[in-house]
Amino acid sequence: MALFQKKEPAPQRQIPTHIAIIMDGNGRWAKKRGLPRTAGHKVGAEAFRTIANYAKSIGLRYLTVYAFSTENWKRSEEEVDAIMELLERYLREAIRDMDKNRVRFCFFGDLSRLSPQLQQEAREAVERSKGYEGVQVNFCLNYGARDEILRAARTFAQACAEGRAKPEDLTEAGFSNLLYSAGVPDPDLIIRPSGEIRTSNFLLWQSAYSEYYFTDTLWPDFSPADLDRAIDAYQHRSRRYGGVKP
Ligand code: IPE
Ligand code: IPE
Ligand code: MG
Repeated sequence: MALFQKKEPAPQRQIPTHIAIIMDGNGRWAKKRGLPRTAGHKVGAEAFRTIANYAKSIGLRYLTVYAFSTENWKRSEEEVDAIMELLERYLREAIRDMDKNRVRFCFFGDLSRLSPQLQQEAREAVERSKGYEGVQVNFCLNYGARDEILRAARTFAQACAEGRAKPEDLTEAGFSNLLYSAGVPDPDLIIRPSGEIRTSNFLLWQSAYSEYYFTDTLWPDFSPADLDRAIDAYQHRSRRYGGVKP
């Protein structure tokens, strides 16, 4: 047997339908350069723009990005304000360029805690982009998977209390439809840059059979080539969903 065999051909060459990314490492990127953390968030926002456009160009259907978690409010007011300002600016520009970019926007998370201005920009982005058929970007803002699951459980419990539903009628599909991600297929691939190997409360229900890809690259440095590497790794995985492949 040859010692240096060529890599086996990929078992499945198609790109995933849905990629989710935990956009992490902005602060460390800035620190390495002696810059304030907010500078990292700014370059991170640019990296997102580049990746969203690239995702569209390769025909990805869904891109879900973790932009701000329910736990990120623990950070300094200065940092939180800077992140919110960047988001507002990004959304405003996205709305302006919407007809050119044709990206469909959706938001996962409790937007009610955001500024009225940001809520308005978010609503407008969703409304204006509804008909676009390219990639759908799901922006996770003030998102936490436990919060999402709890809300779904409360909604169902309320329906039961009011006699509109029965506990025994709840199915996995029915529960999925009560989550922010209702109607969106589960992520095939979840990418976490920055070297952390944890989920940090991201898509806990939806990730039951997702493939994970971890890389040390910090999010502001994450490029289309990094996305290609993640997709290539995904294409060499064997997804069995608990079954057995011949
Ligand atoms: C991700 O980068 C952005 C948010 C969580 C809002 P971080 O700000 O967490 O960057 P690190 O992890 O401190 O490097
Ligand atoms: C996860 O990153 C949240 C986002 C990237 C928005 P964190 O930086 O908040 O996660 P931990 O604190 O390292 O787990
Ligand atoms: Mg972090």
